[in-house]
Amino acid sequence: MSTGPLFDFDNPLEGVEKRLGQQATVLHGFALPYVQGVYAALQDIIAQAPFRTMITPGGRSMSVQLTNCGSLGWTSDVHGYRYSAVDPETGQPWPPLAATFERLAHAAAAHAGFGGFEPDACLINRYTPGSRMSLHQDKDETDFSAPIVSVSLGVPAVFLWGGHTRSDRAERVPLFHGDVVVWGGVDRLRFHGVAPLKEDVHPLFGTERINLTCRRAGPSRKSPAR
Ligand code: SIN
Ligand code: FE2
Repeated sequence: MSTGPLFDFDNPLEGVEKRLGQQATVLHGFALPYVQGVYAALQDIIAQAPFRTMITPGGRSMSVQLTNCGSLGWTSDVHGYRYSAVDPETGQPWPPLAATFERLAHAAAAHAGFGGFEPDACLINRYTPGSRMSLHQDKDETDFSAPIVSVSLGVPAVFLWGGHTRSDRAERVPLFHGDVVVWGGVDRLRFHGVAPLKEDVHPLFGTERINLTCRRAGPSRKSPAR
């Protein structure tokens, strides 16, 4: 794929792989060759399913804005967290999982040791200065056999990589444009979050950070039907 100058970015750790756990790793710069396609797909998705502020079950507004693509989308409201096949704002199905997201997620998962990853959901988070995500586990999926593939775009952030309990000390991991974090297996339920986003400007994403979290939310193809 050819990329124009607009899509050629530096990543200070490009090519470096940082192990976070037995089955968790950061692939720095892995998404860079996909950025042009991802950016274009993102514009289509947000035209159909715009970013919105969601409310936590505790009644607070989340500081990141969210949308989804894929056959299932993650949502939150006062009744709880869940996956839904439709966008609650429009009653319509979420936009389909972009082929570039799928290819990127599949390739990153395979590179990290998780062959055959077939995501059915991609949560898209938009951070603006000060937005943060407190420590949490990704555990609203039907089963945990598939990894999580999390792509960072735009302004750099500090990823908080915790343990199996909320109070475990969290490592601070810098994430740059084009970085991909993959975690699964014994590390699938590790707590993680994002420190408040600093003011910065990225040539393509301005003051924003976009995170794509690709997951298998419904039953995996290999699981027996329930
Ligand atoms: C998340 O855990 O949903 C987001 C992680 C990130 O923004 O890097
Ligand atoms: Fe998460």
